[in-house]
Amino acid sequence: SFTPRVFSGIKPSGDLHLGNYLGAIRRFVPLQDTHETIYCVVDMHAITVWQDPEDLKRWTYEIAAAYIAAGVDPKKSIIFNQSQVVEHAELSWVLNCVARMGWMARMTQFKDKAGENSEQVSLGLFAYPSLMAADILLYKATAVPVGEDQRQHLELTRDIAKKFNHDFAKQIAAAGFEDGFFPITETLATGPAMRVKSLKDGSKKMSKSESSDLATIYMMDDADLIAKKIKRATSDAEPLPSEAAGLESRPEAENLVGIYAALANQSVDQVLAEFGGKGWGIFKPALADLSVSVLAPIAEEMKRLVSDRGEMDRILRDGADRARAIAQPIMADVRSIVGF
Ligand code: ADP
Ligand code: NA
Repeated sequence: SFTPRVFSGIKPSGDLHLGNYLGAIRRFVPLQDTHETIYCVVDMHAITVWQDPEDLKRWTYEIAAAYIAAGVDPKKSIIFNQSQVVEHAELSWVLNCVARMGWMARMTQFKDKAGENSEQVSLGLFAYPSLMAADILLYKATAVPVGEDQRQHLELTRDIAKKFNHDFAKQIAAAGFEDGFFPITETLATGPAMRVKSLKDGSKKMSKSESSDLATIYMMDDADLIAKKIKRATSDAEPLPSEAAGLESRPEAENLVGIYAALANQSVDQVLAEFGGKGWGIFKPALADLSVSVLAPIAEEMKRLVSDRGEMDRILRDGADRARAIAQPIMADVRSIVGF
């Protein structure tokens, strides 16, 4: 039987936070039982904006450690570092020559990230979605568990795959591939996508690059700091409502309750059945305790792993070997299809 292959990755461009955990890393774990799973630390994506080389290296180890500490099993899944499998760069060049300037110019994330500074950002930032297409297509991954923010990039991946299949149809057929060469990758639905918001502003997502330190819960924060951040989180003067509808137009309250629900594996209504009518002085300490009980064991295991570079290097080398074993034959086919 055919086991669908999943590819996903996180950029080593900052300290991991609760949003990365709930929105991405935690969701990687159950997929291991139903899919062939490839989880990458995408360091080549990280350098599309300036990264201090020492930070880049430290964050690379931290992300791999976070995958493992959260329950990604390096025996079941392939965990590796993008730059260690040079075929990512090789395929991305071929795909750069398939993708059209007009397609790339429509990417809203580039426009957001470049802002008014679009003349000064790197060429890599512009080409980023084509490298992402290479990440996925290098493994002929059929499904990627991406959030709404990546939907446009995944559409671009499909457009690139279709154009490659079309432009080289003759060579692809001659090589014996019956339904085109690259798959048309779908978004993998893994339940409602959790968007964790900033603790200081419920209209902004929690992110590695948040300006206020108190706005973001980092995976490696200690218990006291987590409690302090939650205590100081923006909320309102109202008690908690008794059902989810009561959170409408209360974005900060909705965020905090949503975080509780996600961490407790409960629905928002279940959380409100317990806390409805209670004030923040009751809810916030409960949320802090819950956050610490989930994050502390993971942080402890991350610290143990990152302090053992020998073990991390072994895991990443083994992952890169297994990634290459899939990627190299596919890249060899691409080379021959293109006429290299
Ligand atoms: P960041 O935005 O913090 O730089 P990345 O862009 O590297 O994070 O995203 C890594 C993964 O974490 C992606 O799958 C992304 O959807 C997820 N993610 C990032 N921030 C959040 C958030 N606030 N809530 C939920 N998921 C998030
Ligand atoms: Na980001």
